[in-house]
Amino acid sequence: MESSLLRMLGAIMCALAATANVVPVQDFELEKMAGKWYIVAMASDAHWFVNNKAEMKMGTVVLAPTTEGNLDITFANRKADGSCWRQSHLANKTDSPRHFVFHSSVWNNDNDMHFVKVQYDDFALVSTNKTRDGASVTLNALYKRNQEVSEELQQEFKEFSLEKETQADNIVMLPKYDECSEA
Ligand SMILES: *[C@@H]1O[C@H](CO)[C@@H](O)[C@H](O)[C@H]1NC(C)=O
Ligand SMILES: *[C@@H]1O[C@H](CO)[C@@H](O)[C@H](O)[C@H]1NC(C)=O
Repeated sequence: MESSLLRMLGAIMCALAATANVVPVQDFELEKMAGKWYIVAMASDAHWFVNNKAEMKMGTVVLAPTTEGNLDITFANRKADGSCWRQSHLANKTDSPRHFVFHSSVWNNDNDMHFVKVQYDDFALVSTNKTRDGASVTLNALYKRNQEVSEELQQEFKEFSLEKETQADNIVMLPKYDECSEA
């Protein structure tokens, strides 16, 4: 009786601790975002996303803050033929600590990237507005330090994406796939 009560209290404490780890907006520390993340889920109503979502797989992103407070971002995805697709951007800081901007010459679009919710050692909810020729689309992503995603976090990402007005059909949990080595 007593021990099950203790276990229950323990579980509650853990749950509280987990919630407390979510970093309040004003305390964001870019250095703690450094390193490799798996992109385990994405959501967008953009045409390119809707047309390709069925084939998309888990990829990686490596974040490297610069001494100036900007952010080097390198995406990598293993392609079906086994080769790796990589794309790097140097994103500029803005007046808001969680907000970065970069231009993609590959897609010819301007990207506004927000780290909306962050738990440095576990996950990050990232929302990016992509603007090209005056038209904007939003891409939401779930970054994870490992490839495992709990039901709870999947649910949180779905709600986050729905709040950003993404259609439910376009919220995709990506299947695990061979990762590219860090080059
Ligand atoms: C980033 O900053 C550099 C140097 O200030 C500037 O030349 C460049 O246009 C900026 N890029 C974006 C997307 O704001
Ligand atoms: C993206 O666009 C939406 C709608 O215009 C806006 O509410 C949101 O703040 C923008 N987010 C970013 C990251 O710029």
